Amino acid sequence: MFVNLPLSVVVLAAGQGTRMKSILPKVLHCIAGRPLVEHVITDALELGAADIHIVFGHEGEQVQKALSAYDLNWAEQTERLGTGHAVEQALPTIPDDHLVLLLYGDVPLITVQTLQRLVAATAGDTLALLTAKLTDPTGYGRIVRDTAGKVQCIVEQKDASTEQLAIDEINTGMLAVKADMLKKWIARLDNNNAQKEYYLTDIVGFAVADGVAINTANPDEICEIEGVNNKRQLAELERAFQLRQARQLMDDGLTLRDPARFDVRGELMIGRDVEIDINVLIEGRVELGDGVTVGSNVVLKNVSIGANTHIHANSVLEESVIGTQCDIGPFARLRPQTNLANNVKVGNFVEIKKSDIAEGSKINHLSYMGDTTMGTNVNVGAGTITCNYDGANKYQTIIGDNVFIGSDTQLIAPVVVADGATIGAGSTITRDTPAETLTLSRVKQVSVKSWKRPGKTKEN
Ligand code: UD1
Ligand code: CA
Repeated sequence: MFVNLPLSVVVLAAGQGTRMKSILPKVLHCIAGRPLVEHVITDALELGAADIHIVFGHEGEQVQKALSAYDLNWAEQTERLGTGHAVEQALPTIPDDHLVLLLYGDVPLITVQTLQRLVAATAGDTLALLTAKLTDPTGYGRIVRDTAGKVQCIVEQKDASTEQLAIDEINTGMLAVKADMLKKWIARLDNNNAQKEYYLTDIVGFAVADGVAINTANPDEICEIEGVNNKRQLAELERAFQLRQARQLMDDGLTLRDPARFDVRGELMIGRDVEIDINVLIEGRVELGDGVTVGSNVVLKNVSIGANTHIHANSVLEESVIGTQCDIGPFARLRPQTNLANNVKVGNFVEIKKSDIAEGSKINHLSYMGDTTMGTNVNVGAGTITCNYDGANKYQTIIGDNVFIGSDTQLIAPVVVADGATIGAGSTITRDTPAETLTLSRVKQVSVKSWKRPGKTKEN
């Protein structure tokens, strides 16, 4: 059932989060690299919300700053007088004919699918509650139904009778209802209860009194309704979220050696037959082409990797574009603005920064290439480095096609090594080198016949 009313989403985010033991407001702690409250906001946007209202507490400035990329309405709750009072702060700017969907800034794993069911359950003119059955309902408000199964009221843990405490269906707090009804009921709330708070949950009793039907919807998984109050719960929901993402990727065809040792803090796009080994971290936007394999302990951040390229264990790649059939690592580091064409080989303990490496070139061992443009089929010997920085400025190194650079060479930038040049091992190249020519700067080898190794003096 589709409810054709404009949707106003209200997100409660006024919690102090004392048990997080942090100076950061609770809703700004992250799951999968994004603030808790941002997960809820992106759900609201996906649902097509006409407007989103955030009810914030004393730490509002920080939260507003962190969410400045979104178009949000901010409502301050200066005193914490209960959930009903919190919702009331957002109501003045919500039109009567909107449907209000209430969410929580510290309940990040709720899914769009569940919320669509909740919204559909209002059928436009009833009150819809998201409820769940828990083996241990302690602490939650209980859903009280009559013998016919109709919802009668919600009773809070602290106000419940022994009989009511035995009820295993709980109030998740999330609900959907027309704004005009919500406004009318919230105006009637009082705080005559165990906690002297304005309970939002009392609107259920008013709905019954007004003859408004109450429907319920349920989440697919319990983690969807779980809140974060401490670092343990934060870690538990992080794993639940990661497992959810991993399952989706496996359903899309990814071979994942261990979904429990895999984290995506961003977005991963995969081709066919991609394989990822254990302990891999994906950050930002990462694209892996067909047949790409990623070894264990690899970090990939904002990279695009072409088909059939292999990234070997313990490599860290950031802001780089990599062609097809490349071999990277183990222990390689690609820093921002590195572009590798097809069939490039980057071996162990090689660092590349802000460089373009053309097709078929190899940098196999212990090298640093910074601010470099390299041609095709170049072979860079072990231990070769570009000296791109003089302590004040950075300079370019240009290497032509089919160049062979002997091991342990220093290229003092700015410098150009022309096509087909060969550099003798151990050279320090300070001037441009001609094409198709051997260049070397090496002190002539000498052997000193008269030299004797020092012997030990007797006292020692
Ligand atoms: C509330 C529900 C309870 C439900 C539970 C689910 C009420 C009266 N009770 O319980 O039925 O089972 O949530 O977790 O609604 N908040 C504010 N301002 C306030 C009070 C709360 O913004 O003045 C926010 C909190 O930051 C939190 C949320 O509302 O995000 C729920 O508050 P909390 O105190 O955890 O709710 P409970 O009373 O435990
Ligand atoms: Ca609570």
